Amino acid sequence: MRYITIALAKGRLANQTMEILEKIGISCPEMMDKSTRKLIFTNEELGLKFFLAKASDVPTYVEYGAADIGIVGKDTIEEEGRKLYEVLDLHLGKCRMCVAGPASARLALESGSQIRVATKYPAIAKDYFNNVRHQTVEIIKLNGSVELAPIVGLSEVIVDIVETGSTLRENGLEVLEEICPLSARMVVNRVSMKMEQERIGKLIEDMSRVI
Ligand code: PRP
Repeated sequence: MRYITIALAKGRLANQTMEILEKIGISCPEMMDKSTRKLIFTNEELGLKFFLAKASDVPTYVEYGAADIGIVGKDTIEEEGRKLYEVLDLHLGKCRMCVAGPASARLALESGSQIRVATKYPAIAKDYFNNVRHQTVEIIKLNGSVELAPIVGLSEVIVDIVETGSTLRENGLEVLEEICPLSARMVVNRVSMKMEQERIGKLIEDMSRVI
């Protein structure tokens, strides 16, 4: 039997995904060992392989078929824009992609004037401002702590993930517009979906029963 390979975004999402899989009789005890530095785990009986990748690389592994299946956030799927099938919402890690900034930025945003937008998600920000708001903006790519940008004067607004809203609140910022809701999704390689229709189909069905 050919192995089905599943790429997981390492961290909390991988652990929560394994909890869901355990409910449908798929386990990987080796992976639960917190002290391990291993990246690949095999369940011989079920013909499954799991590997832990950086979230933003998961869609890449799946598009090229190095993984048949990936579990990763909708934010990463949208940002990477890879060719793959999104087949299941795991309803984990629910949050929102938002335009945020100080209340004073609302005017500049609404006037449609040329503003600067700092973000870890340049593709999502570009798509939103070009195709939804039809507004010309300058997008500045950052790698983290994006909330700093409007505070120190790098940009008027940010495009970022908001979960509880406390990072914004504690930095004197607020949600100005909501772009889209986010959560973890299962994605499948386009060829694997045809070649392994039966096994992947059953996995999707079993998982959707326990989500
Ligand atoms: C994310 C996001 C926000 C924060 C939102 O950051 O970029 O900063 O979480 O969560 P909250 O609404 O519950 O406060 P993350 O922890 O991934 O760090 P980084 O973006 O600074 O790398």
